[in-house]
Amino acid sequence: MKHDTLEKNAGLLGVLIVIAVSLGGLAEIVPLMFDSDVVEPAEGVKPYTALQLEGRDIFIREGCYNCHSQMIRPFRDETERYGPYSLAGESVYDHPFQFGSKRTGPDLARVGERYSDEWHRLHLMNPRDLVPESNMPGYPWLAENTLDSDLTPVKMERLRMVGVPYTDMQIAGASAATENKTEMDALIAYLQGLGISSKGRR
Ligand code: HEC
Repeated sequence: MKHDTLEKNAGLLGVLIVIAVSLGGLAEIVPLMFDSDVVEPAEGVKPYTALQLEGRDIFIREGCYNCHSQMIRPFRDETERYGPYSLAGESVYDHPFQFGSKRTGPDLARVGERYSDEWHRLHLMNPRDLVPESNMPGYPWLAENTLDSDLTPVKMERLRMVGVPYTDMQIAGASAATENKTEMDALIAYLQGLGISSKGRR
């Protein structure tokens, strides 16, 4: 085909551009689907417990990701501050992932076990009680709202459909694990689990 024809025919050019870009995209994306570093869990990474899973939903509902990323990039300034950089295999059970792209506050990918549960409780009630210059909002209602524990097993079943290996026993025990817990309890359980599988790499 002569190049003239292409240049004068915007429609055809458009179609061919789409094909070229799609092929390029496929060449980058498809190999990742079979790369075990990406699709297999990194060492020590486990599915969220029932309570952590509920906490994750609170994290999403309250929009914490608007100010906090969960993705440590492989740069010295980040690894010195937050710990080892994030691996794809650490997010295999995250549906959807919480990488985020905005850091008004610090990255949370490895915040697990950095503070006590009580620290988190006070901080979430009113961050300025602990960090006077903080501009993070308080979330006092989380301490009053009780979780809907009927929903927890349903959520776990759905996650199992997309590949999270929950056992029947875990699902059967899910309601009991979240019953009478507050949203605050769940969120703290979630935060305390973030990034702890990497402890050996630190
Ligand atoms: C308006 C932005 C903003 C929002 C929304 C926000 N934060 Fe923060 N967060 C901050 C800032 C700024 C800091 C640093 C000062 C401080 O510790 O309070 C922080 C600190 C933190 C820390 C301590 C991290 C560390 O390594 O010291 C945790 C944990 C945290 N936030 C959790 C949350 C959770 C959970 C939510 C949602 C319920 C949330 N944040 C919502 C801005 C925000």
